[in-house]
Amino acid sequence: MKKTILITGGAGFIGSHVVRLFVNNYPDYLIVNLDALTYAGNLENLSDVENKGNYKFVKGDINDTLFINSLFEEYKFDGVIHLAAESHVDRSISNPLEFIQTNILGTMNLLNSARQIWKDNTEGKLFYHISTDEVYGSLGSEGFFVESTAYDPRSPYSASKASSDHLVRAYFHTYKLPVVISNCSNNYGGNQFPEKLIPLAINNIKNSKPIPIYGKGENIRDWLFVEDHASAIELIFNKGKVGETYNIGGNNEWTNIDLIHKLCEVMDKKLGREAGESAKLITFVKDRAGHDLRYAIDSSKLQEELGWKPSLQFEEGIEKTVDWYLANQEWMDNIISGDYEKYYKEQYEGRE
Ligand code: NAD
Ligand code: TYD
Repeated sequence: MKKTILITGGAGFIGSHVVRLFVNNYPDYLIVNLDALTYAGNLENLSDVENKGNYKFVKGDINDTLFINSLFEEYKFDGVIHLAAESHVDRSISNPLEFIQTNILGTMNLLNSARQIWKDNTEGKLFYHISTDEVYGSLGSEGFFVESTAYDPRSPYSASKASSDHLVRAYFHTYKLPVVISNCSNNYGGNQFPEKLIPLAINNIKNSKPIPIYGKGENIRDWLFVEDHASAIELIFNKGKVGETYNIGGNNEWTNIDLIHKLCEVMDKKLGREAGESAKLITFVKDRAGHDLRYAIDSSKLQEELGWKPSLQFEEGIEKTVDWYLANQEWMDNIISGDYEKYYKEQYEGRE
């Protein structure tokens, strides 16, 4: 094997797309997927690559310092692509401590182990930290986040991601650890846990359940198809300049309410419903605490310096996404039959 790459959080939504891409594109690399299989981790996401010779799954927790040290000693990774995290803003509002533990302390464990095994030679090594545009805070109706925008996180989730970004940069400046960071906008696509807006809405529309829209649905997000995020990660991993940050985004802003109307339109067509039927399920509910108004990414650095661009238009991406969920009902059923019901009740009951 030419290189051994650690991907953390590879059983999650984005991580599973990144693992698949690397396992398929680099047959001479060993791809080690480390995941604790929390509620968000699902090995069904990777059933198509699980038997490949260059893929290995390790179940483990990035918060376990001794375990992480021994894993790095055993594999002597050449590269780390770090996606493992607690990732849902609403859960961070109800239970912030888990976010501090995994997103900050877990990241510290990985940084320390990488520093230890690369202490004599950093040639060809890279610690790639996957972050979010939410670290930049909330925009008004104008402007975009660029790489130099001052951090202004406003939820426990974004504060924990901002903190981990700062630590990654601190390890670059202080210890010369070779790092790169990217901050991406909202992803959508297959395999996303139905706590996030799009898969939650698809599942509710399919089952003719109310679609909960926080506040007035005026908040704006910039949506990127998950496979385009994975391709940006591959490019940055191979060509990104050590010590740099790259913003990744779809240049594709939607208010939540317009997005849901679009989704309802697609679902009506796919389910053979009369036009307008699914939109009747839209229900405005109590707003999220501290709800960021708008995120919008300027990804021109990544486009101009590394030549990345998204492959899909939103219309095509959303159809592909709906098709994926409709074709993978068993995947959804396995999730919603577990603790999901309890989570859903806690978040949404009495909110209308
Ligand atoms: P996800 O919640 O779907 O997956 C997270 C994965 O990490 C799961 O498989 C989970 O089991 C694993 N994990 C959690 N805690 C762990 C621990 N302590 N040890 C080992 N594994 C653990 O998240 P996602 O949406 O795929 O996001 C992946 C990364 O991308 C995160 O770092 C997130 O901040 C970032 N990000 C996400 C988005 C988005 O729109 N989803 C956008 C930008 C950046
Ligand atoms: P989400 O998918 O949780 O991503 P993020 O909070 O990281 O942007 O939410 C996307 C947007 O949709 C956000 O503005 C919150 C809103 N939202 C709802 O209106 N209803 C919901 O049930 C959920 C989960 C989100």
